[in-house]
Amino acid sequence: MNNFEFYNPVRICFGKGEIAKLSKLVSKGANILLAYGGGSIKRNGVYDQVIAALKGFKIIEFGGIEANPHYETLMKAVAVVKEHKIDFLLAVGGGSVLDGTKFIAAAALWEGSDPWEILSRRGEVNVEKALPIGTVLTLPATGSEMNGNSVVTRWETHDKLAFASDHVLPVFSILDPEVVFSLPQIQVANGIVDAFIHVMEQYLTYPVNAPIQDRFAESILTTLIEEGPKVFADRSSYDAAANFMWAATMALNGLIGVGVPQDWATHMIGHELTAFHGIDHGQTLCIVLPGIMKLKRENKKEKILQYGERVWKITKGNADERIDATIQKTIEFFESVGIKTKLADYGVGSEIIPKVVNRFIERGIKVIGERGDLTTDDIAKILEMQLK
Ligand code: NZQ
Ligand code: ZN
Repeated sequence: MNNFEFYNPVRICFGKGEIAKLSKLVSKGANILLAYGGGSIKRNGVYDQVIAALKGFKIIEFGGIEANPHYETLMKAVAVVKEHKIDFLLAVGGGSVLDGTKFIAAAALWEGSDPWEILSRRGEVNVEKALPIGTVLTLPATGSEMNGNSVVTRWETHDKLAFASDHVLPVFSILDPEVVFSLPQIQVANGIVDAFIHVMEQYLTYPVNAPIQDRFAESILTTLIEEGPKVFADRSSYDAAANFMWAATMALNGLIGVGVPQDWATHMIGHELTAFHGIDHGQTLCIVLPGIMKLKRENKKEKILQYGERVWKITKGNADERIDATIQKTIEFFESVGIKTKLADYGVGSEIIPKVVNRFIERGIKVIGERGDLTTDDIAKILEMQLK
């Protein structure tokens, strides 16, 4: 196992009715910005619960944060924060609202010339401070509720970039599984596959003798395979919703990734497909991952075989046959929740390949993946395989 440091101070309040705890979680006298998305919280009762819980608190609202939150919109929120001397940010929504709020929290206190640098010069500049954040999660998927990551899109240039900082780890996150009841089918599917592929990014690499991490990862994958269809079959099943929600949080709160190699190539390539074509985040991952598994089947051989055997019970045949069967099972799982895995399914043709490759070249990224050997030529091959 590799050396690691693990720090995750996020207080999780999990379960039915937990939104009512907001009044205890937020300091009295706080000047709150309530950030939310396109209005789902007003239709499913979450907004009413939040407002009821925060009766007597000073709240300024900022709605309209888009899916794949736009830098342009978030900078308007930063202006509101400064104007009203906001000192606490409450994000109520899915990963986009949470990520957007993290950016607002960092940008509001940014002392550099342009807050876009937080994203565009990641690695060169660091977020040194941010306003405190609390969250009420409404869509299990990204893990944003229990991590310090944020992904922001600059609409005018089609850049979708990420940053990470301990300073934007939420102080608390409220996870009430009943929010799942109002989710459209496609968002449940996106959530299941996003969480699934978060695990794969941290698991499907090469062995470093880390059985705790491996078995945690396999348990999350198995839980998503078993509970996902139950959420589909009966949206009002509290138990299935609760298991799905906790699986998605555990998939990307840092725990399974400690001391092991991590890949993230699927996400890096997938983000470009969203940036250029607006394909949902979860869908982009289901396009890219099968291509990576096919191209890097030798590199990832031991872990693909382990994943196939432990998660899909594939034990028959020689190694090549088992790898083929495992890739096939993975694709079938994505399709079973209604997510297609080819670019043509989203109306995208081969013209996307040079556009994506150029993005990596422009940013000076020559290699990605857990071994640092997935080249821009490989990215082209992966997308080529996934055309139709
Ligand atoms: O905007 P509203 O009206 O709230 O509607 C949203 C949105 O249209 C709707 N929704 C959310 N909760 C709902 C609901 N509708 C009905 N009932 C509810 N309870 O769902 C739509 C999608 O929401 P969004 O927040 O965009 O989805 P998701 O949670 O999948 O977040 C995706 C974003 O997170 C980033 C992605 O790149 C993307 O920008 N990611 C963040 C990560 C992180 N912070 O660690 C990691 C991920 O890999 C990912 O990159
Ligand atoms: Zn993701």
